[in-house]
Amino acid sequence: MPELKDTYPLYLNNRAAQPNTDLEVTDKFTGEVAFRTALATPDVIEEGIAGAVRAAEGMAKLASYERQDVLMHCVARFRERFDELAYALCVEAGKPINDSEGEVTRLIDTFRIAAEEAVRNYGEVQPLDISARAKGYMGMWKRVPIGPCSFISPFNFPLNLAAHKIAPAIAIGCPFVMKPASKTPLGAIIMGEVLAECDILPEGAFSILPASRDGADLFTCDDRLKLLSFTGSPGVGWDLKAKAGKKKVVLELGGNAAVVIDKDADLDDALERVIFGAFYQSGQSCIGVQRILIHSEVYERVKAMLVEKTKTLKAGDPKDRETFIGPMISDKEASRLKGWIDEAVNAGASLLVGGGLTNGNMLEATLLENVPDDCAARNEEAFGPLAILAPFDDFGAALDAVNDSKFGLQAGIFTRDLFQVLDAWDRLDVGGVVVNDVPSYRVDNMPYGGVKDSGLGREGIRFAMEDMSEIRNLVVRRTS
Ligand code: SIN
Repeated sequence: MPELKDTYPLYLNNRAAQPNTDLEVTDKFTGEVAFRTALATPDVIEEGIAGAVRAAEGMAKLASYERQDVLMHCVARFRERFDELAYALCVEAGKPINDSEGEVTRLIDTFRIAAEEAVRNYGEVQPLDISARAKGYMGMWKRVPIGPCSFISPFNFPLNLAAHKIAPAIAIGCPFVMKPASKTPLGAIIMGEVLAECDILPEGAFSILPASRDGADLFTCDDRLKLLSFTGSPGVGWDLKAKAGKKKVVLELGGNAAVVIDKDADLDDALERVIFGAFYQSGQSCIGVQRILIHSEVYERVKAMLVEKTKTLKAGDPKDRETFIGPMISDKEASRLKGWIDEAVNAGASLLVGGGLTNGNMLEATLLENVPDDCAARNEEAFGPLAILAPFDDFGAALDAVNDSKFGLQAGIFTRDLFQVLDAWDRLDVGGVVVNDVPSYRVDNMPYGGVKDSGLGREGIRFAMEDMSEIRNLVVRRTS
């Protein structure tokens, strides 16, 4: 097992600093303190923001190949430090070790994609002579970095969702300040350690600053910051947007994603994928399967298969390779979701499997059916190991049911009918439709983000680079 240190620094203006060891981070399975990190005070956050402002010009002047080199350095170092990164994640997030390794693989993908995109920041030449008044004029546009950015990243993918902000910022040439989630700051701190090895980055190019919840306002309200990119809960995200002033805001928020299993689907395959989508990393994913809509002709069969399979999922220590269900991030979150399950059952839902809570934060993989329409378990984001089953008779009605949500991140459709796929793509009010897989599926170069309460903007490196840049136009009048 790799060893973790007792204390970790923060990164201020590219350099490690240890002003204190005030942030205590626990092993989410044992509940014991695993390590401590520095906690940024308001003064430190101010220094980071001022540094980012000073670094904006230097970052914008870096050549594409220089930005690419920085990103490739990160790829190489993350490969070398693979086991350490996975272990840190397993401890601080309680993420089962297999899922932790999967996330480190995605982290490397994300930086690799960004390294490729760093040299592809193309513009366009545009003929402007569309009418007599513009004869002799032509235009050209290019993308320029938006300037200092502010990033707030979540606990559920502490590496890869931080990477989805850091890597495109470097690829396009924006300095940034980042507040990683206080419960899981280590992944981002290790990224800071690796970035600090890149002397070519101008001082102030990055600051990675664990901070208290109140500190989030400093990352949000300051008008010197030109973009806020937040990933986290819908409530917090929309509140921050209201305080963000003139800056551009990108929000990657939650969902209560649905999957539709039609009667012609390969049911064995759908079962495997739905179990994964609902319960991997204890359902703590914005695109975890929460609502399972099953054609009535196969409903009882699929229900029996799901219940049987759910009973076999091994819960326990995330460091154990056999473990599929680890702890939730905190006792508070686990008892919040347990409360929703109990509320649904009291309101008439049937508990098919699970529902038990042990050790404060070990919530069993849970399936419910007949959940009344007004229950939180159906309408709010569960963000835990809970999924609810419901039958449908007609594919169109299933699409309506998917859309019957205040969220719209991704949806999954299991069908062999191309016309149904096209209908779903047209009609589903979500950021992405996944065919023959769960909504929880994501590759790190695809456009990813939601509509309705699920957010604003798209990640996926080149899409994030668009958000982190402005179009600058050039108009040329030919005078001879
Ligand atoms: C999320 O939970 O927002 C991201 C899911 C993923 O990247 O797989």
